[in-house]
Amino acid sequence: MGHDDNWEGLQTRVIHGASGLNKTHALSAPIWQTTSFVADSPEAYAEIAASSHPSEFYTRYGNPTHERVEQTLAMLEGGEAALVTGSGMGAITLAVMSQIKSGDHVVAQSDLYAGARALLRDFVPRWGIETTFVDQTKTEEFEAAIRPNTRLIYLESPSNPLLRLTGLKAVTTLAKARNIKTVIDNTFATPVNQRPLQLGVDVVIHSATKYLGGHHDLTAGVVVSSASFINQAWSLGVVFGSVLSPFDAWLLMRGIRTLGVRVERHNQNAMAVAQFLETHPKVSRVNYPGLESHPQHQLARQQMSGFTGMLSFEIDGGAEAAERFVSRLKLPTYTGSLGGVETLIVRPAAMWSHQLTPEQRRATGIGEALFRLSVGLEDERDLIKDFEQALEAV
Ligand SMILES: Cc1ncc(COP(=O)(O)O)c(C=O)c1O
Repeated sequence: MGHDDNWEGLQTRVIHGASGLNKTHALSAPIWQTTSFVADSPEAYAEIAASSHPSEFYTRYGNPTHERVEQTLAMLEGGEAALVTGSGMGAITLAVMSQIKSGDHVVAQSDLYAGARALLRDFVPRWGIETTFVDQTKTEEFEAAIRPNTRLIYLESPSNPLLRLTGLKAVTTLAKARNIKTVIDNTFATPVNQRPLQLGVDVVIHSATKYLGGHHDLTAGVVVSSASFINQAWSLGVVFGSVLSPFDAWLLMRGIRTLGVRVERHNQNAMAVAQFLETHPKVSRVNYPGLESHPQHQLARQQMSGFTGMLSFEIDGGAEAAERFVSRLKLPTYTGSLGGVETLIVRPAAMWSHQLTPEQRRATGIGEALFRLSVGLEDERDLIKDFEQALEAV
């Protein structure tokens, strides 16, 4: 019973694809919870030390528990190789910093996860690297921002928190023509709903803390790309120390095994909630790529096979109404993170008030009464009933 990576179905590949890497007789592969590995001789140890991304040398360099989840994620995204990291930010930092040097230029979207924006806006300039932020919905803005020293285009689609899309084929076509690498944060979509490497993107990163883990109980990140890119990111990761704990790698592997069924249900629940909110008189705007009212719905249909469990919406009445509404909700928990079994809600204007001034928030479209919702796996009837009663209080 060998393992076979060529099964058609994603769920089959997730469950059986990396089973060949379980080097034990246990049905559920154990955790290699160890700092160091022992070689047969000092000479053999030196040889392992000199190799790239060894899985049995020292856990900061690699670990068999990492190797299993890395191979599974590379397979899911359709990349040659993957590297797991201690958080999504670790993955973003390695994907960006392993490619740029002083004097280089980056083009990035302005609607972006706040941590990625902080890296590009507040930190990389210290090393002499400039970033131009553009409207992701306008491909021509990417083109206009490119300079002779542009090395990287950094993308996120759908974006956090406004669920805007980037035309991935159009942007990667113009990047490839100029030999510029493209990196995308695919956290909101997951490989179940969107496979960017097939659309020409060079590098996919995830906060695996979110849908890939799926249970709000681990912190992890992953970079998926060509073997040579992963090797460069790995070399930097060893020095930056962005290592994932073997226990969290094991939990991540456990989470990924149900990714397909979870994401399908997240998609269904989010669509039901989005449709309900869209017709509610107290809701002024719903941002969900699955709705026909989303300005980029046709693009979503072209580049996504499902529309995610994430949405954002704005209610009438400003910050005060927003606070009243959220205090009445019973099912959604008010906290950060997303992509797990429980429904989570946050008000970005309140949560990121230290990152963006009111003017910057207005300019990017983050209103005072905008909510970001990570629709969980509860029964959709209960979710809708809860939103209905909370909106009555507004
Ligand atoms: C879209 C997106 N990317 C990256 C991150 C960062 O991930 P982590 O918290 O695992 O570092 C987050 C975290 O919320 C996110 O929402």
